Amino acid sequence: MWQEQLTAATAAALAAGAVLRQHWGRLNNITEKSPGNLVSEADTLAEQTILKILSEYFPEYAVLAEESGQRGTSQYTWAIDPLDGTTNFAHSYPFYAVSIGLLVAGVPTVGVIYDPARDELFSGATGRGAWLNGSPLKVSTCSTLAQSLLVTGFAYDRRQVLDNNYREFCRLTHLTQGVRRDGAAALDLAYIASGRLDGYWERGLSVWDVAAGVVLVQEAGGRVTAYDGSPLDLASGRVLATNGLLHRPVSTVLLEVQGQYIAP
Ligand code: IPD
Ligand code: CA
Ligand code: CA
Repeated sequence: MWQEQLTAATAAALAAGAVLRQHWGRLNNITEKSPGNLVSEADTLAEQTILKILSEYFPEYAVLAEESGQRGTSQYTWAIDPLDGTTNFAHSYPFYAVSIGLLVAGVPTVGVIYDPARDELFSGATGRGAWLNGSPLKVSTCSTLAQSLLVTGFAYDRRQVLDNNYREFCRLTHLTQGVRRDGAAALDLAYIASGRLDGYWERGLSVWDVAAGVVLVQEAGGRVTAYDGSPLDLASGRVLATNGLLHRPVSTVLLEVQGQYIAP
């Protein structure tokens, strides 16, 4: 099940990764979509590469791609981020990825994330497992906040909205061994799936940021939900992903900071 979709997404992600590597360190056309939200010729060319390959495999599938938007309607939709971590890429900070997820009736079902800088290919499919360059992925076994290493991010609207994640970041930085801010949501999720990080939360996300990563974390034994532990709502832009053991502790802190925690 899902083998052909995995093959297609992998081929597309690797080809897009090659495009990104060609542009590494030599971008000459960077513009701002909104304050702080960059786009470059690398984003556009990588996306075109992905769309071409996926449409050869599955011409009937719909597409939701960051740079070109929605195309078609189908029970099957590819959610594509051709370059997650554009700000990093533009600054030659080597933490960025290609992310391709397949939504089946809106549910993330196949995920491929490719990190061209490290040649790391994370992939997985519901009921099949998840792998890093072919080896099975497993979330970490860390069970206390005090021993944990978390990661988060700050949406581009952080200067305009009060709910900008700064307070949550401060509180969890205080309670853990650290909170990283690596700047690529898809790779953040891949790192939860691979056990390198123990928990991740963020608001203001788009479907293409997380569709693939959600599958990887779940298939690696972790949990992905809304901040309060209720089922994930991709449209909300809020994601809490952990190794499972830390889900309740992180959720409790997030709700406390937001003033929504009700003691059991
Ligand atoms: C962004 C990155 C970043 C996250 C932002 C995303 P982009 O994606 O994933 O880590 O904090 O919310 O929009 O713009 O680099 O594709
Ligand atoms: Ca992104
Ligand atoms: Ca992007």
